[in-house]
Amino acid sequence: MHDNKTEVISVEKDVENLSKNDEIEHAAKRIIAGEVVAFPTETVYGLGGNALSDKAIERIYEAKGRPSDNPLIVHIANMEQLSKYVEKIPSPAQKLMEAFWPGPLTIVLEHSGNLSPRVTANLSTVAVRMPDHPIALALIKASDIPLAAPSANTSGKPSPTTADHVYHDLNGRIPLIIDGGPTGVGVESTVVDCSTGEVIILRPGGVTKEQLEEVVGQVSEDPALYEKDLTPKSPGMKYTHYAPSAPLVLVDGGVDFFHRQVEEGVAAGKKVGVMVTEDNRGLFLEAHQEVVCGKRTDLSTVAQRLYESLRAFDKNNVDIIYSEVFPETAIGSAIMNRLRKAAGGQVIKE
Ligand code: TXA
Ligand code: MG
Repeated sequence: MHDNKTEVISVEKDVENLSKNDEIEHAAKRIIAGEVVAFPTETVYGLGGNALSDKAIERIYEAKGRPSDNPLIVHIANMEQLSKYVEKIPSPAQKLMEAFWPGPLTIVLEHSGNLSPRVTANLSTVAVRMPDHPIALALIKASDIPLAAPSANTSGKPSPTTADHVYHDLNGRIPLIIDGGPTGVGVESTVVDCSTGEVIILRPGGVTKEQLEEVVGQVSEDPALYEKDLTPKSPGMKYTHYAPSAPLVLVDGGVDFFHRQVEEGVAAGKKVGVMVTEDNRGLFLEAHQEVVCGKRTDLSTVAQRLYESLRAFDKNNVDIIYSEVFPETAIGSAIMNRLRKAAGGQVIKE
């Protein structure tokens, strides 16, 4: 394990010719040397390493404490890189790449065996995406290596949307973090399986089902996303995830019902946290901590602030967190998927 202090370098994402930037070249050298580097993407921060090197991949799993049967996403900067690592690109996958890359869509395809088998956890498929972030793209180009990168958090914790979150989780465990400011989308990429000819959503994310359907018609969802007893097709989805330290409970009901939960918690001597939208700011004054997580009228703001909101409760050591729930359409599907996982399925309905 890396046990020196972690270096943090700030990079301005809007400067020209980023892949020739000194800081990016410094980071690329580390990647080429087989080390791991945390970097921003448009979704969340990733922890990247050489996707061709078993050693580098080993370091990623070790730094995160990630179970080794959970495969990583390979990040590429251009289509030439893709053709080296996948067998064939079925037509729906091609259409999706044209429509959404670079962007928050990860596509699962049959691989050609040229990547480290540690990346794919020995599956016959690989998950690939082209991120829509100048720093991520510059780093991949400067190292000229496809980057295997999971989210740069301790396994089980909410994904990092700032370099501070990465530092909090991985300080002393990785050599370098590139700070490119807060990420934009806030939740991870959508993962779709295109290896069978069909398009199946394995993890809802930054690209919505509605957007996918505009491009390829009918899209299905892995039924395990909604039924706790089924085994998900995406290995990572079987783990508890995105969780703050205190138990999280989702409250599916009106304001009075929400009040009752908070009051009961307080009466039981618990330090209660509430996660609410702008619309309900200041409504639950009996709670010990209120975190406002965006606007109900614009759920993209909730996606953006979801993980930092969940992390905010860890600082105050609350005993229990009550959160609002959201409609499961468009980006709401990704938000609710993460909230349900963070809550370990605990939903109370009016
Ligand atoms: O937005 C994102 O996707 C971020 C940024 C850093 O790109 N990355 C990310 O990686 O969320 P990670 O490792 O936290 O999640 C990858 C997901 C896991 O659920 C994993 O099981 C799934 O992708 N996955 C990877 N390879 C797969 C494969 N061959 N078949 C099915 N699922 C796969
Ligand atoms: Mg993750």
